Amino acid sequence: MSSATRALSPEFKQLIETCPKAELHIHIEGSLEPEMIFALAKRNQVSLPYASVESLKAAYAFEDLQSFLDIYYAGASVLLKHQDFYDMAYAYLKKAHAQGVVHAEIFFDPQTHTARGVAMQVVIEGLSRALVDAGRDFKISANLILCFLRHLDEDSALQTLQEALPYRQHFIGVGLDSSEIGHPPEKFKNVFEKARALGLHCVAHAGEEAPPAYIWSALQTLYAQRIDHGVQAMKDPALMDYLARTRTPLTVCPLSNVRLCVFAQMEDHPIKKMLDLGLCVMINSDDPAYFGGYINENYLQVAQSLSLSPADIEQLAKCSFEASFMPEALKRHWLAEVDRVFA
Ligand code: ADE
Ligand code: ZN
Repeated sequence: MSSATRALSPEFKQLIETCPKAELHIHIEGSLEPEMIFALAKRNQVSLPYASVESLKAAYAFEDLQSFLDIYYAGASVLLKHQDFYDMAYAYLKKAHAQGVVHAEIFFDPQTHTARGVAMQVVIEGLSRALVDAGRDFKISANLILCFLRHLDEDSALQTLQEALPYRQHFIGVGLDSSEIGHPPEKFKNVFEKARALGLHCVAHAGEEAPPAYIWSALQTLYAQRIDHGVQAMKDPALMDYLARTRTPLTVCPLSNVRLCVFAQMEDHPIKKMLDLGLCVMINSDDPAYFGGYINENYLQVAQSLSLSPADIEQLAKCSFEASFMPEALKRHWLAEVDRVFA
């Protein structure tokens, strides 16, 4: 058996599972498990284009990002009421807590809901109340990041930001997601400028499927503080050098990349090379209900397929806190906790 396929020792597995970590790239709508999709469809009398949980799960054989997004938006159509958004977010935070996540920065896609007539208030207050309750119940800290759908135009993004402003205290930043190719970051220059002026953090999906030029544009025209995915940076040595020098974080999602055929198998994933080149990278789940696992399934599969060492896991966990938007004192606390676990 090659070292790449040797099973992890029980001690190493436990270390990975219990190590404190932050999750910085999770779409809350991507945490909707098939069973919850069907339960909410029944509760809200929404009809789905799938007859059963099994037939929905059978459709989770994706060829690329777009083939996934088509199903992901169909799944999100069951979310209508405040309680639906609450239940979805609370379930994610409970699961994340059980996997050692102590802090989460959570994406949500308001345009997916407002386009169906769901009020912005329902979306944001439902999610926000779940974050408060999970904080009380699990001692997990969490924040929301409002994402603009890049397949829509910038006017729609500007209108969305405007509609969200009465709830400004409930989110810490803005992001950019959905269909990447053909929708470069510079299309959203004005809305990101406005968000930055409002004191919001700025992040953007870039270099998931599209070339390194999209990452440069996210940095230079949107002033993105973190790049979501960013794995295509490997094709541009000057960009890799820039990302390493500036410690610009890349929120990498390994299971997502394999399920969406960005890499044929986990053994081909570049995250270990990125770590070795001095990049600030960490592991995230992206859309855990669709891609075969939450954060620990991602960590475990990467550790096994790429023969990661405990020092690699320590580095990934530390990068997750370094890259977070949590207050500096809390950051220092969790970095010291990771040191303690690996001492
Ligand atoms: N929305 C949810 N998951 C996404 C992904 N992996 N890329 C772009 N947009 C998304
Ligand atoms: Zn994503």
